[in-house]
Amino acid sequence: MKKTVRDVKVEAKRVLVRVDFNVPLAEGKVTDDTRIRAALPTINYLLEHGAKVILMSHLGRPKGKVVDKLRLSAVPERLAELLGRPVRKLDDCVGRKVEAAVAEMRRGDVILLENTRFHPEEESNDPVYARELASLADIFVNDAFGAAHRAHASTVGVAEYLPSVAGFLMEKEITFLGKALAAPDHPFVAILGGAKISSKIGLIDNLLTKVDGLLIGGGMANTFLKAQGHEIGQSLVEDDSLDVARETLERAGERLALPVDVVVADRFDAEADSKVVPVGQVPEDWRILDIGPETVELFKRKLAGAKTVVWNGPMGVFEFPRFAEGTFAIARFLADLEATTIIGGGDVVAAVGQAGVADRIAHVSTGGGASLEFLEGNPLPAVAALEDK
Ligand code: 3PG
Repeated sequence: MKKTVRDVKVEAKRVLVRVDFNVPLAEGKVTDDTRIRAALPTINYLLEHGAKVILMSHLGRPKGKVVDKLRLSAVPERLAELLGRPVRKLDDCVGRKVEAAVAEMRRGDVILLENTRFHPEEESNDPVYARELASLADIFVNDAFGAAHRAHASTVGVAEYLPSVAGFLMEKEITFLGKALAAPDHPFVAILGGAKISSKIGLIDNLLTKVDGLLIGGGMANTFLKAQGHEIGQSLVEDDSLDVARETLERAGERLALPVDVVVADRFDAEADSKVVPVGQVPEDWRILDIGPETVELFKRKLAGAKTVVWNGPMGVFEFPRFAEGTFAIARFLADLEATTIIGGGDVVAAVGQAGVADRIAHVSTGGGASLEFLEGNPLPAVAALEDK
């Protein structure tokens, strides 16, 4: 167990909080504030306990240069609305002006530093840069679960120089994902989808040591279907992963369920002609873009009675309404299931939001890459850097 903000005295202290405000933007506005809202419990706790709150985050991948459209300028307005108090945004995250602004802070003040990735030293985890960031504060709180798989100066480096604890979001993410891996309530069923097996081999391997059931949909199911000898027409497939698919089928045995019917399209287009066919009857010029209704029913039967469910990767091209039903049907079913359901990965999180059921899922992870790494069983460097209880 890692120490959290509850384990340190923050009153009148300068607290440097790493958040993941890597949020989607359009025309200078935040279009999805989920990650900002997810950081509120920690920020509000610190403010209620009389701290001076200095927030830092990355945004996008500016590669060590100042990129104007990747400034954090859109965040303070939304954050101030949510906090009900002003947020002062600075133009850099280190340097004399930043030090001066921090020196003027009073209890209850909130400062947001500029994108930490504008300095190349962030991603190289440069100790001088990390120390400069750390010198702004008395305590480091890491609440950026989404960036916890990155060993950067603002996630790992600063922890060398300050007492370092987890924020509430970090704690919640580690608790949910950690329990699913270490001591899940059984039956434990995993649902995997998305385009590629190749990016999820580690996840499949680790989950197969733990789950009672593994349901595979989305583009990656095509490779399994082909490995079983089915014709899949023009569907997305990874021919160089056919062996991995065969090995997985063998290892998983009865536990693994694949689509029994699919929604096919005559082209990759939102307006494509579509129809439902049994697997094995995909016309030569057509492609699989969603799981079919019988597969949805099969997956529901496999999920009924599950006590822990982990879901990563959509069941189809849900961005096209015609091919969204498989993903949405699973989302709705999980919302009604009496199980600890954990959803990770940006696309499924978006799909669950679109299906309108996000608030009925036990844990919707804010981490894409980070949740994948965690579920693969890999240690997250930014978590390892925090103090143990
Ligand atoms: C994410 O969006 O998954 C995190 O903010 C990490 O971003 P990164 O992949 O650019 O490090």
